[in-house]
Amino acid sequence: MHRVFTVTLHGSGRRFDVAAGQTVLEAAQRAGIALPYSCRAGVCGSCKAILRQGRCAYPRNPPVALDADERAHHAILLCQAVPCGDLLIEAREVPSVEDVARRRLEVTVAAKWPLAPDVIGLRLQPAPGETRLLWLPGQYLDVLLPDGRRRPFSIANEARPDGAIELHVRHVAGGGFTGWVAGGLRVGDTLRIEGPLGTFVPREDSERPMLFMAGGTGFAPVKAIVEHFLGLGTRRSIEVYWGARSAADLYLRPLAEQWARQSPQLRFHPVLSDPEAAAAAGLRAGLVHEAVLADWPDLSGHDVYMSGPPAMIDAARHRFLAAGLPEERLYYDSFDYAPDVLTQILAGRAGIRGRIESGEW
Ligand SMILES: Cc1cc2nc3c(=O)[nH]c(=O)nc-3n(C[C@H](O)[C@H](O)[C@H](O)COP(=O)(O)OP(=O)(O)OC[C@H]3O[C@@H](n4cnc5c(N)ncnc54)[C@H](O)[C@@H]3O)c2cc1C
Ligand code: FES
Repeated sequence: MHRVFTVTLHGSGRRFDVAAGQTVLEAAQRAGIALPYSCRAGVCGSCKAILRQGRCAYPRNPPVALDADERAHHAILLCQAVPCGDLLIEAREVPSVEDVARRRLEVTVAAKWPLAPDVIGLRLQPAPGETRLLWLPGQYLDVLLPDGRRRPFSIANEARPDGAIELHVRHVAGGGFTGWVAGGLRVGDTLRIEGPLGTFVPREDSERPMLFMAGGTGFAPVKAIVEHFLGLGTRRSIEVYWGARSAADLYLRPLAEQWARQSPQLRFHPVLSDPEAAAAAGLRAGLVHEAVLADWPDLSGHDVYMSGPPAMIDAARHRFLAAGLPEERLYYDSFDYAPDVLTQILAGRAGIRGRIESGEW
């Protein structure tokens, strides 16, 4: 008989059981309680919570997303923390995603097209006999590979009656799956997927101005959420920052410019990190999160949504909080590699393996 511990959520008072060896996040998901997460590997920090009572271990990946100060203030990572007894934790619940069931289905590649030099657009349709997937704007899915590994991709559109799912897939150098998408994948091929996943979703219980920041293909979930708010006819002001290396990498710039033309409360800010490319295109140069901070040195009045490369997310997370943004109003998906790859990379780092096995973290 496996030992079972109980986790209580401070605030809502909801409780759920955790079987031996399970992480808090896995147990919450099994109990139908939505807590925030993104990478599921301990590196992005979106599942950060505060441990008020009890003790956890990290037998899988070390909690690299927590700095020493956060650990000293009893922060834990729900995707990696395994309880050593009953716990009382303070975590942000995301009840809106609890109503959407996660499931597996087969999809057919209905269209494949180049979006940018290293980005492919895919349109997936439920395979014959499958019912359409439902999701909230901003959520992602896992492509299930034949050997059991998974590869996460954000869904770039809202759920539609025809079941179409749009993905923006960047070809990662040395990447197995994205290399195959760029090369061998053909229209008519089938894929197995599981979704919806993630908690990067619209928060509609707010009247605050919204600021969106995307890096590269981080534009995919931002597109879905912005289109959702525009479809609702929101009157809240919307700033959309999109950072990329070159003008060609802002692969849907005409769409974002069209949002700005049609919606007086929305402003679009393209930013290029390559100064020569920026000068040639007549666009703003620099890092996109620096552009946000130059325009909004005080973020205390905003709700901020961001997605894209881990380096951008990590830098922006710290800087935006320092600019007065309350942590509970910063929503993000960090486009990390899949959990199996991150686990291998982390385990390969000198000195880490022994600490993982001892559960020292
Ligand atoms: C929530 C979420 C949403 C995402 N959404 C999107 C999206 O919408 N669009 C998008 O383009 N991307 C997205 N990503 C990122 C995307 O999932 C990854 O780029 C993808 O999983 C890469 O898969 P791959 O099989 O091509 O590469 P992998 O084979 O997983 O390899 C990735 C990299 O790691 C290296 N590597 C592999 N194994 C090891 C090892 N053992 N040691 C050291 N290095 C190794 C490879 O050489 C390569 O450079 C998202 C990620 C997350 C977490
Ligand atoms: S650190 Fe837990 S989801 Fe990323």
